[in-house]
Amino acid sequence: MAVLKRLFAAALCLSSTLVQADLVGLPTVPFTASKGNQSLDLTRIQSIIVDSRYAQTKDDNGWTLIPPTLNEFVQTFAQDHNKLYGRYLGVQSGSRSVPESIFLTIGNNSEFKDVAGRWTSEAYKIEVKNDRIVVAGASPLGVWWGTRTILQQASLNGAKIAVGSGVDSPGWNTRGVFLDAGRHYYPPSFLIEMCSWMSYWKQNTFHVHLSDNLYNNVDIYSYERQMELYAAFRPWSDDPALAGLNKRRNESYTREQFDEIQQSCAARGVTIIPEIEAPGHALVITQWKPELAIETSRDLLNISYPETIPQMETIWKTMLPWFHSKVVHIGADEYVDAALTKNALVAEYNRFVIALDEYIKQESGKSIRIWGTFPPMSNYTNNISKDVTVQHWEFFEDNPYFDYIKKGYNVINSDDQFYIVQKYSTSYPQELNKTRIFHGNPDGSAWSPNIFDQTNATNNPPRDSPYVVGHIAAQWNDYGPNTSTYLEAYNPFRYYLPALADKQWGGKITEEQYDSIYPTLQAAAPAQNLDRTVRSKSSTILSYKFGAGHQPQPYGQGWGGGHHGHPGNGIRDLSGNNYNANTSCSIANGALKFTNGCAVTTPLTSKGNDYTLSFTLKQTSQTPGPLFTGPDSELRSGNGSSSQIMLVSAGNAFALNYSLPVGQWVDASLIGRGNQTFFSVNNGTEMEFLTKVGVNGESFAWVRMAVVAPLKTIGGGSWEGKMGSVTLVDHA
Ligand SMILES: *[C@@H]1O[C@H](CO)[C@@H](O)[C@H](O)[C@H]1NC(C)=O
Ligand SMILES: *[C@@H]1O[C@H](CO)[C@@H](O)[C@H](O)[C@H]1NC(C)=O
Ligand SMILES: *[C@@H]1O[C@H](CO)[C@@H](O)[C@H](O)[C@H]1NC(C)=O
Ligand SMILES: *[C@@H]1O[C@H](CO)[C@@H](O)[C@H](O)[C@H]1NC(C)=O
Ligand SMILES: *[C@@H]1O[C@H](CO)[C@@H](O)[C@H](O)[C@H]1NC(C)=O
Ligand SMILES: *[C@@H]1O[C@H](CO)[C@@H](O)[C@H](O)[C@H]1NC(C)=O
Ligand SMILES: *[C@@H]1O[C@H](CO)[C@@H](O)[C@H](O)[C@H]1NC(C)=O
Ligand SMILES: *[C@@H]1O[C@H](CO)[C@@H](O)[C@H](O)[C@H]1NC(C)=O
Ligand SMILES: *[C@@H]1O[C@H](CO)[C@@H](O)[C@H](O)[C@H]1NC(C)=O
Ligand SMILES: *[C@@H]1O[C@H](CO)[C@@H](O)[C@H](O)[C@H]1NC(C)=O
Ligand SMILES: *[C@@H]1O[C@H](CO)[C@@H](O)[C@H](O)[C@H]1NC(C)=O
Ligand SMILES: *[C@@H]1O[C@H](CO)[C@@H](O)[C@H](O)[C@H]1NC(C)=O
Repeated sequence: MAVLKRLFAAALCLSSTLVQADLVGLPTVPFTASKGNQSLDLTRIQSIIVDSRYAQTKDDNGWTLIPPTLNEFVQTFAQDHNKLYGRYLGVQSGSRSVPESIFLTIGNNSEFKDVAGRWTSEAYKIEVKNDRIVVAGASPLGVWWGTRTILQQASLNGAKIAVGSGVDSPGWNTRGVFLDAGRHYYPPSFLIEMCSWMSYWKQNTFHVHLSDNLYNNVDIYSYERQMELYAAFRPWSDDPALAGLNKRRNESYTREQFDEIQQSCAARGVTIIPEIEAPGHALVITQWKPELAIETSRDLLNISYPETIPQMETIWKTMLPWFHSKVVHIGADEYVDAALTKNALVAEYNRFVIALDEYIKQESGKSIRIWGTFPPMSNYTNNISKDVTVQHWEFFEDNPYFDYIKKGYNVINSDDQFYIVQKYSTSYPQELNKTRIFHGNPDGSAWSPNIFDQTNATNNPPRDSPYVVGHIAAQWNDYGPNTSTYLEAYNPFRYYLPALADKQWGGKITEEQYDSIYPTLQAAAPAQNLDRTVRSKSSTILSYKFGAGHQPQPYGQGWGGGHHGHPGNGIRDLSGNNYNANTSCSIANGALKFTNGCAVTTPLTSKGNDYTLSFTLKQTSQTPGPLFTGPDSELRSGNGSSSQIMLVSAGNAFALNYSLPVGQWVDASLIGRGNQTFFSVNNGTEMEFLTKVGVNGESFAWVRMAVVAPLKTIGGGSWEGKMGSVTLVDHA
């Protein structure tokens, strides 16, 4: 009987002309393939056509207030397409698809629905024929996600995409990550690269925490110590109303920079959701206005002090014009004073949230999000408005289903099952947990945004609950700015965020499929190089020999890459990659002599792990200076009065208990392996670069660092010595 049934099913399948065959991607795409396994070869595509009727259309349903037009999204798609496939297709304007084209238009479809059955502007329909592709989005943003599908499929299938069609809609409208940029600064370029990477997985939200302080227990300190603990407010405003609030000019965002971040992210469908945290985690505000603090815990604002709410309104009044999102985050997390009983501040907290909600709404029309801290209760004289979205993070604070959803509040799932605390924690991991992504439903199946509790199904609303807005995976910097480099904030997300993104969308990728496609898609993700990969013909990326027979050549001496008529000398890269360098240093006794600030300039910038950067050198004086410098890191022979070998990154120095000898040739290697970094001399014991993490001011932990290799400049400062060779390989 079973055999017969199977035969029958097979026969049915053959006789039909369509086959259900979801496109395996991140996320997966519902798809019905044409019979016969046909595919379209993308290299046949001759034009990318934007529908002229909708070229200037914008999506006003998303979270952003600066949505790109259809034409702008299509231009960005064409750039990605051309870069990845080495083509030069310009965007044409037209009103219909033609053979050998990709036609991008706006349409509607009864299946453009989210998980709760509501129309969504992020949906799209993709139709692949033998000679063309048509993407019809519910909005330009829907089209944009459709273009990610084309790029992913082409990367996975040798530039081919199956013939057939599919309608693809995200189940939830908030999908992305959170980064604590309050207790650790990140430059705009890093945030923008993160957006490009997230966008490839169809994530649309980057929640950026712009103010915070060390630690979670400030009340153990004296007034003086609390006044100088690390605390930061990242926006740098020239408005006199905020003068003195931000004391870290070099670790801030100017309005222009914040605009650039928001515009660059919006260009790829990602909305920056800014957060200014109060009335808890607000030490930066009370360091500025000490009278606003609760005496015993100066990171808490005293809400009953008459100036407190007006002062917060001033901060928001100044900042609101900067923010191009329909919703902003006011923090409202962990407002608890250890000296008081847990609920002593609840009524005050409610008053604060209500006041700011009303103020921000009236001032800007924006709505607010708050962290789940004190569930709104019916006995308060004023209830928190249902326009306020609550971001749940921990069951010890609240129960998202019973406290909010059942009472009609919208909730974002940021449950700490997916929390990351950078580098060190006794309770949280340092990367996303794959098991929880693929088996996080209490029944053992894959996790989805309505799963708040991975063990007790009673705490989870149904999958189609309209009150679950989406999911944001959070990464915190509890132990402050010197725990990590900038790029190390990407590492915890690197391996499994694309899998989580599939689940945030409502995709169906299995663990096996994920393992097989992730490396290919990861390598193809456009408009970023967070892995700091360097193209190379072999495992040797770079090889310079400065010794006998390898003199630097004046430009125009006939070697590849030389340039005629310029001063200075060229150094040939012997790796075969043609990464030739220039130098202002001269040769002496078969080695390049570094003196008077002369330097070697290479065409490379950084190399991510794994790598081994080997070099032979003889240090000729005690004067410390840079050996290798790049945009992400620096290797120094010391600094100031210290002659310890050190790596400098993100404004922090990580030193070894080792100094280079003077007057002696050594073979040295900087080694990046996994999430660790080492230095070794003459093939001796590898010394590891570690950071000393201050844990709540109570203890220390020494933890590993993953610092990328600095490659842009060799020498160029006060370091004096000679080098014989420099070699970079892609393994460690
Ligand atoms: C059908 O296409 C898939 C993916 O393109 C390929 O792996 C498979 O081998 C093809 N099957 C046949 C029968 O051609
Ligand atoms: C699309 O069609 C659905 C019904 O299928 C409708 O509810 C929705 O409003 C339409 N959207 C637009 C933008 O026309
Ligand atoms: C908060 O401010 C009010 C009004 O100035 C004051 O009476 C109260 O003592 C302050 N509370 C704390 C805990 O500092
Ligand atoms: C607060 O909201 C609850 C639930 O919506 C309602 O039952 C209650 O009457 C409200 N309380 C006040 C004081 O408005
Ligand atoms: C409201 O009720 C809760 C739970 O019974 C209680 O803890 C809280 O103190 C009450 N709040 C007010 C303002 O009465
Ligand atoms: C480093 O990698 C190891 C092995 O993959 C992992 O167990 C550890 O958590 C990572 N450590 C940090 C600080 O990221
Ligand atoms: C990942 O999550 C599972 C399920 O909660 C847990 O058993 C496992 O220990 C976690 N793995 C790590 C490395 O934390
Ligand atoms: C599961 O959650 C429900 C609702 O919060 C609770 O009443 C029950 O005690 C929980 N069960 C377990 C085993 O924790
Ligand atoms: C070397 O100098 C030439 C001539 O100025 C310049 O074109 C080339 O870009 C330089 N290469 C590097 C790696 O700086
Ligand atoms: C910003 O300046 C301070 C003070 O000079 C310095 O300690 C810090 O390292 C700098 N930050 C960065 C990212 O360079
Ligand atoms: C270190 O090892 C490399 C490769 O094994 C070798 O070429 C080199 O001569 C060694 N250096 C020293 C100082 O022993
Ligand atoms: C990092 O900062 C902590 C204070 O939070 C300090 O104790 C520790 O020495 C610093 N570590 C490094 C490597 O500078």
